[in-house]
Amino acid sequence: MGNILEIKNLTVEYFSGNNEKVIRAVDNVSFCIKSGEIYALAGESGCGKSTLSKAITKLVFPSSGDILFEGKSIFNQKKDQKKEYPKCVQMVFQNPYSSLNPKMKINDILKEPLDINTSFSKIHKKALISNILDDVGLTDSVLELYPHEFSGGQRQRIAIARALILQPKLLIADEPVSALDASIQAQIINLLKDLKEKMNLTILFISHDLNVIRYVADRVGIMYFGKLVEENNVSDIFNFPKEEYTKTLLHSSPKLAI
Ligand SMILES: Nc1ncnc2c1ncn2[C@@H]1O[C@H](COP(=O)(O)OP(=O)(O)OP(=O)(O)O)[C@@H](O)[C@H]1O
Ligand SMILES: [Mg+2]
Repeated sequence: MGNILEIKNLTVEYFSGNNEKVIRAVDNVSFCIKSGEIYALAGESGCGKSTLSKAITKLVFPSSGDILFEGKSIFNQKKDQKKEYPKCVQMVFQNPYSSLNPKMKINDILKEPLDINTSFSKIHKKALISNILDDVGLTDSVLELYPHEFSGGQRQRIAIARALILQPKLLIADEPVSALDASIQAQIINLLKDLKEKMNLTILFISHDLNVIRYVADRVGIMYFGKLVEENNVSDIFNFPKEEYTKTLLHSSPKLAI
């Protein structure tokens, strides 16, 4: 299987207003994500997981290093690649309450990515919206409603639908179930696994919850203070952790019933 994404010696730093370095959030990180896999990034709060995902989606820019998508640097794209890239890489965020615009109806939330990135006809857009709602377990009856009219789990389904409506190749799910109740967590995780198969997705799954990761991931990277300290396939990470920090993380993780 080829690599869809290659992170090469990536360093991301935040600077204060007077340009003094505040923090090195991602520190010389290298790893690859293979096409079709679920790669999980784990590590405690503040270790740089979200910053890394923001670098992949170009919301922050690295101080050094590179990110290759399908073999090409994302920081050096030709005009048409630049236009295609946002369609290829989409994100689902932790908090479905703040990631959906409360003033927009669900129809507009789902139509917006199509309006921005495609020139499909009205009818085509409508059909795509119906299809993606069906894929995430909802119906057209939600289209005229607003985000506040839904439960957290349903909102996360809508956020997933919005992320997948452009049929991306890579989905970055940044703590997609951390804000949800345990029973709902399992539903959303299973939905993501089903959609991954159905839509040939590759997923970067970010979570501090190792039980969730054990259930979803093919391979796992462990981050600690901005560095990737260990990486392995999921069974080896759990059964034969090499680094002291990974062992500590495994021991401190409560059990979840999935
Ligand atoms: N905009 C910013 N400006 C300055 N520092 C930031 C900014 N965003 C994040 N940081 C810092 O960078 C480090 C990495 O943060 P990041 O959000 O990437 O961690 P995380 O692993 O996603 O944490 P969490 O599990 O809490 O979501 C932290 O020390 C954080 O305080
Ligand atoms: Mg985060």
